[in-house]
Amino acid sequence: MAEYSKGLEGVIAADTKLSFIDGEKGVLEYIGIPIGQLAEHSTFEETVFLLWNGKLPSKGELADFTAKIRSLYALPDGFIDRIRAIPPSAEPMHVMRTLISMLSFYDATPNDIKPASVRDKALNMLAKAPTILAAFHRIRRGMPVIAPDTSLGLSENFLTMLNGQRPKPTMAKALDVCLVLHTDHGLNNSTFTARVITSTQSDVYSAITGAIGSLRGPSHGGANEGVMHMLNEIASVAAAEKFIQNKLEKKDKIMGFGHRIYKAYDPRATHLKVLAKALAEETGNIDLYDKSIAIEQVMLREKAAKGIYPNVDFYSATTYHCIGLPLDLFTPMFVVGRIGGWSAHVLEQLGDNRLFRPDVNYVGPHNVNYTPIDKR
Ligand SMILES: CC(C)(COP(=O)(O)OP(=O)(O)OC[C@H]1O[C@@H](n2cnc3c(N)ncnc32)[C@H](O)[C@@H]1OP(=O)(O)O)[C@@H](O)C(=O)NCCC(=O)NCCS
Repeated sequence: MAEYSKGLEGVIAADTKLSFIDGEKGVLEYIGIPIGQLAEHSTFEETVFLLWNGKLPSKGELADFTAKIRSLYALPDGFIDRIRAIPPSAEPMHVMRTLISMLSFYDATPNDIKPASVRDKALNMLAKAPTILAAFHRIRRGMPVIAPDTSLGLSENFLTMLNGQRPKPTMAKALDVCLVLHTDHGLNNSTFTARVITSTQSDVYSAITGAIGSLRGPSHGGANEGVMHMLNEIASVAAAEKFIQNKLEKKDKIMGFGHRIYKAYDPRATHLKVLAKALAEETGNIDLYDKSIAIEQVMLREKAAKGIYPNVDFYSATTYHCIGLPLDLFTPMFVVGRIGGWSAHVLEQLGDNRLFRPDVNYVGPHNVNYTPIDKR
């Protein structure tokens, strides 16, 4: 029997060629390329190609891949009517979980797990996730749905469908960088979930749906919304120090800080911090950035010695807010990016599959006599 590790901490559960993390040095690479280079030079579509193919695309390959994604933006006939049937009060993460799953109804072979078919299905989910999110948001606000524009890249098209107007290039680019930074991240909880489901030879829709459920949790992708709530709660930059100290005294976790793997500055946060500052200046939200800096200073002073630093979610909150995303769309946006990584892991798992089935350490009683119900 192997040693028990609560939360599977330190347990290696799969081989991967996708992303490499050095948590002590704060390094993240996709297929060996440092995340900073991808954030600076790549696009979300190209990054997904990289992960799915293990190499950067040629010009022709990228054009084909992008064209395929764009051809899949539109939702199937009747899908919008189903979105209209959803109560406007539904939480967008629950909507994403249910509607991404529902795409399988429109697939003639939903259970096909041959690699080519899985790629098609994954591309379909990736292309349609922004359309679903924008349509739900507009319907719940009583606004007309905007059809996707296949002449636009995924990020620009999403913001156009969401707001009914083309975004400024800086905003579309910023969203795209966020998606690149969120695409993959080792065997995080939601990716593990996708691989666990895949290991039963279940379908890719189930794998992605399960992963969305995992991502929603405040210990995982849900933390970006938690950060925004915290920033809204803090009245001013000057009030940040006391607010954080009070929370730490109560042993509350500060959202956007800490990580199971990183014991150094999360390299994604390094890039998002720069992006958040530029966008905050551009959009008149510098107070949000300044509050974030004040929080970070207290946290570094109090917690850096324990290896607790800002993670990906900390500066994504300000970034998403400045891009104009409503607060409850922050985590769904993470879904859009991470579908690229989850799918890459599903393909990798299928390529060398073994059923995940860990053991448990039974700590309950034995040989207990059954007591009839009228004697209890
Ligand atoms: C991400 C997270 C779940 C990783 O946690 P983990 O590896 O399970 O570590 P633990 O929760 O066991 O924390 C270890 C210690 O650090 C402290 N700690 C961890 N994250 C902290 C945070 N954000 N704020 C304050 N203290 C924190 C814990 O209180 C604990 O202290 P203790 O040893 O005195 O009890 C955790 O850091 C967290 O909840 N962060 C906030 C949520 C968040 O931002 N999630 C997004 C991750 S990308």
